[in-house]
This record gives sequence, C-alpha cells and structure tokens, in this order.
Amino acid sequence: MARRTFIAGNWKMNLGPQAADRLAMDLKAALAGQTAVDVAVAPVAVSIPGVVARLKHTGIHVAGQDLAVEASGAFTGEVAGEMLREAGCTWVIVGHSERRSLFGEDDALINRKVHAAFRAGLLPILCVGETLAQRDAGQVEQVLERQLSAGLAGLQADQLAAMTLAYEPVWAIGTGRTATPDQAQEAHAFIRGWLRKTAPAFVADQLRIQYGGSVKPANAASLLRQPDVDGALVGGASLKAADFVKIIEAAPHMAA
Ligand code: PGA
Repeated sequence: MARRTFIAGNWKMNLGPQAADRLAMDLKAALAGQTAVDVAVAPVAVSIPGVVARLKHTGIHVAGQDLAVEASGAFTGEVAGEMLREAGCTWVIVGHSERRSLFGEDDALINRKVHAAFRAGLLPILCVGETLAQRDAGQVEQVLERQLSAGLAGLQADQLAAMTLAYEPVWAIGTGRTATPDQAQEAHAFIRGWLRKTAPAFVADQLRIQYGGSVKPANAASLLRQPDVDGALVGGASLKAADFVKIIEAAPHMAA
C-alpha cells in the first residue's frame, strides 16, 4: 500500500526568530504548489509562531522538537503540547537521541510524552535507533524492540497508524556517516514486521517510518527508494533551503 512520503526538517537549536523566518520564506517560495510530499519543519520554540505565520496556507506543517508531559504548571523551562498546538504546530518530535543521551530521557518518559502529544492534539514523530556500540554488539533489533514496545505502550491502533516513527541510528546523526540504503531498509523492515506482529494489519500498512541520520541531497534518493523508507527526518541539511528542497524532490514519485 502506498504511503505518502513525509520529509521533516529538525532545525535543532539553530535559527532564532529572524533567521527562522528567512528560511521559512525561502521554503515557501521554493515549495509553492508542491503537494506530492508531506513536509514539516521543527524550529526552536521561540521561532514557532513566526514560522507558522510565514507558512500559513502553504501546506508545510510546523512541528515542536520536544514537549512536556504535563499541560501546565510549575515546570520551569518546559513547553506543553497544548501550547505548541495553540501556536500552530501539528506534529512534535519525541525521544530524539539528543534528548535521550544529553537530557537523560528514558523510554518510560518518552512514552508519557507520546501520550501527552496525542492528548494535546499533536501527532508524534517518535525517534528510535541504536548506538554504534549496540550495532557492533549485534543488538540492533533488541534495542529497537525495547524502544518500540516501551515508547508505544498503551496507544490505540488508530493513533499508531496516524503517527510517524523515525529510525535514526545514533552513529549516523550529524556525523556525515549515513546508513547504507540496505542498512536502513533492514531496520525499517524489522520495525514494520514488529508492528505487524503487535498491532492490527492497517497499522503496519499506514504508519510511516522516516530514516534520519546525515540525509543529504546526494543520498536521499537511494534511501527514499527503499520500500519501507517512507520519508526522512533531516537535521543539518534542513538548515539550507536549497538542500532541503532537493531532498524533498528526491522522493521517488517526485523524481519520476
Ligand atoms: P542530521 O540529523 O541530518 O544532521 O544527521 C538528523 C537528526 O538528528 O534528526
């Protein structure tokens, strides 16, 4: 079954309101009329309102990079999903490897954030992926299975089908070392097979799995051509409009 390609740009802690507006303006111009691929960008929280305003009526979605578990209260420094939704976000990245490794987020917390996203009316992009040590130790499937079963615990089938997973091998993030198309396909097929075992068939058919980790214009087409790679979560290359647009244009039905 055909899944619409979904390309998301994770701007990480880059681009304050002014620079984010310039990039949004460039994307708006370059992607006008583009409807074949679903596109989202994830600015830092303070840049979200401006980017939402700039991208109004373009069809380009805006995502948060993280969200709090709680809806409001004494949680200094946090941003609630409800606030992201009010600001105009439709998606939110959850469990990025930088949140896991630098900010101590574990699978249980990430699961609570996934539920918080749905409560707030946001669709999560849940990131999973192994470290180099785990890959070298032959633990890729074990790690993915743990991250998936804990991270997705308690979700309804229709929630699973609507959300997105991002397979991001930690060793490929920001390193310039991309997984080969075969490595990506192998992990994506494992994830889809796990979904097929644990959820109704429509979940595995519909849920989109993005690949993330040093996706660039030069490698996007070969990754996106893999049958179980339904899109990309792009970090560094999403900060330049020309590169991000080239990655979007590399989606199989765009390039055809
Ligand atoms: P990268 O980041 O494209 O810069 O490797 C990907 C990500 O962390 O989502």
